[in-house]
Amino acid sequence: MPFSSKLSLGVLLSLTLASASQQVVAAAVLPPPVVSPVYLYSDDSFVENLHVLPSGSIIFTEVTSNTLKSIDPGARSPVPNDVISLPAVTSQLGITPVGPNAFAVAGGNYSSGAFLSGSATLFVVTLSGGGNARQPTGHVTKAIPVATQLMNGLASLPAHPHLVLAADSTGARVLRINTATGATDVVWADAAALGAPAGAELPLGVNGIRVQGAWLYLTNSARGFFGRVPIDAKGNVVGALHVIRALTGAIGLSNAYDDFAVDAAGNAYVALHHSSVVKITPAGVQTLIAGGEGVATVVAAPTAVQLSLDGCELFVTQAGNTTGTGGHGGLLKIRL
Ligand SMILES: *[C@@H]1O[C@H](CO)[C@@H](O)[C@H](O)[C@H]1NC(C)=O
Ligand SMILES: *[C@@H]1O[C@H](CO)[C@@H](O)[C@H](O)[C@H]1NC(C)=O
Repeated sequence: MPFSSKLSLGVLLSLTLASASQQVVAAAVLPPPVVSPVYLYSDDSFVENLHVLPSGSIIFTEVTSNTLKSIDPGARSPVPNDVISLPAVTSQLGITPVGPNAFAVAGGNYSSGAFLSGSATLFVVTLSGGGNARQPTGHVTKAIPVATQLMNGLASLPAHPHLVLAADSTGARVLRINTATGATDVVWADAAALGAPAGAELPLGVNGIRVQGAWLYLTNSARGFFGRVPIDAKGNVVGALHVIRALTGAIGLSNAYDDFAVDAAGNAYVALHHSSVVKITPAGVQTLIAGGEGVATVVAAPTAVQLSLDGCELFVTQAGNTTGTGGHGGLLKIRL
């Protein structure tokens, strides 16, 4: 497979660079980030989102499956393990922690850009072995029906983690779901900030959302921007949207922001379709971290990004060839 051989070559080159720079103690030039697969499927699995557990293992969701899975990126040959299959749905999108051992997962029956009417459900999954297990199993403790066509990125509120914000990508809204009571309301509805323009090639507005400090960070895929808005501790929007970075050129399947991670300094690591991961500083400076135009064999339809526990690596989920980019769905790691 060309994908693996290119990656192996990249790894070999970087290992050579790394050992060379260790010998020359004060090497001025850092090696470029090294991209390697954690695991790639050989079929058409579409991996969508992820969370890094305290054990270092990753739990991840797939659009093409109702089974939440885990993988240990530190294993010699990492393979996915089943955590739990979500009942009465076919697909999963966002995931966010709602307690020390519990996660909210957006589920539904996904088909052509939306969930089938009446299928959107926010599941709460509790891990049996706790977050320290390297191969956790789980059980569903709650299934909350949500009135939306598409629940995409999820972000719980740090001061009230049982409250989950959910990106409604086709309804131009951010919802708030109380996982303790099942109550759902709308914290933000704004077609310009959260919707897609008419006739968009990729008709998904607000997509990834993450809460950091007093900010809700978001991407709007169809409008091609990454930005943030101030929120209070309960997720109410208390100020204006600030666009941190807007894409140039035509927005579409091959030029669209997806989900992202934000570090403590406010730098974002963003999945950029169809073949890149970029860093965006708080000042809006964007640099390429991995992949790039014309090299979809390195990063193939990246969907979400999370930092490793030590902050030295990025884990990236990818959809693979779902938009004709080539490659396979799975998870990558990028050494920063
Ligand atoms: C979603 O798919 C599941 C599994 O096929 C099925 O049991 C369920 O009835 C579907 N839900 C809707 C709303 O169609
Ligand atoms: C990717 O998908 C396209 C159809 O969208 C197909 O023609 C092509 O063979 C696939 N490529 C790989 C590497 O699977």
